[in-house]
Amino acid sequence: MHPHARVADIATGTAAFLRDLARHWPDAILDGYDISTSLYPSARTLPRNVTLHLLDARRDVPVSLWGQYDIVHVRLIAAGLTAPEWGRTVRNLAKLLKPGGAMQWEECDFTNVRHFPGRPDSTTDAATTIGLMFLTAMKPRFEYGWNRLAAEMRTAGLADVHTEAVSADRVYDTRPRLTANGMRAMFAWARLHSARGSQGALTMRQIDDLEQKAYADIQSGCYVTFDIHVAWGFRPE
Ligand SMILES: C[S@@+](CC[C@H](N)C(=O)[O-])C[C@H]1O[C@@H](n2cnc3c(N)ncnc32)[C@H](O)[C@@H]1O
Repeated sequence: MHPHARVADIATGTAAFLRDLARHWPDAILDGYDISTSLYPSARTLPRNVTLHLLDARRDVPVSLWGQYDIVHVRLIAAGLTAPEWGRTVRNLAKLLKPGGAMQWEECDFTNVRHFPGRPDSTTDAATTIGLMFLTAMKPRFEYGWNRLAAEMRTAGLADVHTEAVSADRVYDTRPRLTANGMRAMFAWARLHSARGSQGALTMRQIDDLEQKAYADIQSGCYVTFDIHVAWGFRPE
């Protein structure tokens, strides 16, 4: 990446990716886009070269943004897309690239999420229970995307498309934090459905109880694993 590169991070959320990048690339132009501002940190706390905007990646990107970026990065948008929306979204976002620019996209295969015991005395029941409940509800979203990215990038006209996969548990030191991070997301989802009175939702009391046990599982050494997939490709010169 050259020092003044322009980077678009789509579905940027808390802009974590761009804030990390800003530490090493203070002169790059780093633009985050998301369908919602709800996770955006206050503009005052952002590095001066990070700017956040609103954009629905499923809709045609404004012509003013075509060909503007050296790098288009996407990470974990899967929960927001249905299966038929992937092709259109990849084609849309490819339009942001300058000739020679690169798209990099990371998605997780949560359909193979598992909670394992890290020690002989680890417990895993509560973590496994909430994991399975979440997966059962979200499966239609998680079955697609990570396994289609390379094909969709090629269809979008990108060249030199490659993929790689790694296991989420490969770094021993981050296992507890990664597992707790997933727990926070899953229990937030469970509470939302309970508050909405969705069919089959747990009561708040059941959720509190399961949550306490799930965090005790993590304390005992229980950790999560799934596969992380990355695909990248280049807009031809
Ligand atoms: C799990 S967060 C990922 C945040 C960030 N990419 C990261 O890795 O830290 C998913 C984000 O995707 C956003 N999102 C979902 N559907 C979207 C869409 N159609 N267009 C743009 N952003 C979308 C959500 O608003 C949310 O901020």
